[in-house]
Amino acid sequence: MGTGMLATGLASQAAVNNVETNAERSSRKHNQRFNMSGYAAPKLDKVRIGFVGLGGRGSGAVERMAYIEGVEIVGLCDLYEDRVEKMEKLLEKHGLPRAKSYSGNKDAWKQMCEDPDIDLIYITTHWELHTPIAVYSMENGKHAATEVPAARTIDECWQLVETSERTRKHCMMLENCCYDFFELLTLNMARQGFFGEIVHGEGAYIHNLLNENFDKNKYVGMWRLKENQHRNGNLYPTHGLGPVCQIMDINRGDKMEYLTSMSSNDFQMAAKAKELAAKDSFYNEFTTDHYRGNMNTTTIRTQKGRTIVVQHDVTSPRVYSRIHLVSGTKGMACKYPDPRVSTSHEWFKPERMKELEEKYTPEIVKRIGEMAKKVGGHGGMDFMMDWRLIDCLRNGLPLDQDVYDAALLSCILPLSEKSVANRSNSVDVPDFTNGSWKTNAPVELTLKGGGTTGVKESKKVDTTKQLSI
Ligand SMILES: NC(=O)c1ccc[n+]([C@@H]2O[C@H](COP(=O)([O-])OP(=O)(O)OC[C@H]3O[C@@H](n4cnc5c(N)ncnc54)[C@H](O)[C@@H]3O)[C@@H](O)[C@H]2O)c1
Repeated sequence: MGTGMLATGLASQAAVNNVETNAERSSRKHNQRFNMSGYAAPKLDKVRIGFVGLGGRGSGAVERMAYIEGVEIVGLCDLYEDRVEKMEKLLEKHGLPRAKSYSGNKDAWKQMCEDPDIDLIYITTHWELHTPIAVYSMENGKHAATEVPAARTIDECWQLVETSERTRKHCMMLENCCYDFFELLTLNMARQGFFGEIVHGEGAYIHNLLNENFDKNKYVGMWRLKENQHRNGNLYPTHGLGPVCQIMDINRGDKMEYLTSMSSNDFQMAAKAKELAAKDSFYNEFTTDHYRGNMNTTTIRTQKGRTIVVQHDVTSPRVYSRIHLVSGTKGMACKYPDPRVSTSHEWFKPERMKELEEKYTPEIVKRIGEMAKKVGGHGGMDFMMDWRLIDCLRNGLPLDQDVYDAALLSCILPLSEKSVANRSNSVDVPDFTNGSWKTNAPVELTLKGGGTTGVKESKKVDTTKQLSI
């Protein structure tokens, strides 16, 4: 598929030019209309879902949802009809009825969002459509669940917050890494005081995608390469930050105050574009010098005086890592290269690690962990996330991740961009909760009030490697 086939209209230069506007908006006063943190929407017996964006990620989501009881897949939307048809075949394979199909033009998703017989719109398109579709869904009375990042600009972050508060519809960012096994274990350990006071956390998205980003057949319309071509900051902070923020009760007892961000130069992408363009004119439009720095390091200070480091590097030939480091006054944990815990100079031996697992494995993992591994999706975390989302909606429980989390984790990209453009000077982080972070309850770690959603038996074994997150 050529780039011309998808009019993504990536407003990259506009985004760069928007930096000042975004900064102004960081300090904007927002009067919270209604607190969506801890908000429980009316129970839904069945959750009727419409999916938009049926590429690599969307097709996996449709398949996972097909295993969850109480779900009806009623709408399927993609720019390309054959992608919709492929998912209809998948529903057939699962013995499920056909969904309504929406395709053929770039606005077909609007029609789906307007359908009164849908409860939840599940968004898995390229980044530029996440906020427009989420906002339109909520305006049309649907809950919205969107892939990461939920927004690309500060203005979009506020649009999500304001729309969710006004419509009282959930807007969840699908930060699946919050549901990975070690991340959940360390969240429970933190909650039980194992680490003492949390002082510092680290996360990252270190994932060599150099070839994928330049692959003509990978991301529709080359959307991912274009994001990397025009925005110089921490492009994909949410996987590293999500679990660390939950552990630090960010938006629920603490909040981010300011950040500083530094990027290296680009040593790889412009060179790669030139090399490819010499053989194939398709790549001519990518031979620019705007590429983001290969390594970005962003440091965040919280209101309680704690620090977070989040890195981004998707081009260097490095081993995959989201770091996931938690450091407190009594102990620490680090997930990569393999999960370790310590309270002294040495890592715990395997027997101690086993004891920790037995003591601190949270209820969701005990209830659904094995099944999640079978259904799959990055080793099971994707399935745990989907199951929990549906279980909360069916039982009228607050979601684990609300619109303030979506906005906060997403705003790190435009704010880091501003800091990088300004010799790493500090930038204030907006308080999307408008002060309610002081009293918002921490993320629920039990299945209290829920846990009633069943799963259809699966014999499928996950073949998705950790590396493809
Ligand atoms: N959480 C994770 O672990 C994870 C992993 C991979 C991707 N993602 C995210 O998922 C999203 C999708 O990534 P992907 O790899 O599937 O990309 P992709 O390019 O494979 O899929 C995007 C799909 O959106 C469709 N689309 C584009 N414009 C559309 C429109 N106007 N209407 C309807 N459909 C439209 C495309 O045709 C394509 O099928 C991205 O936001 C990405 O960051 C998350």
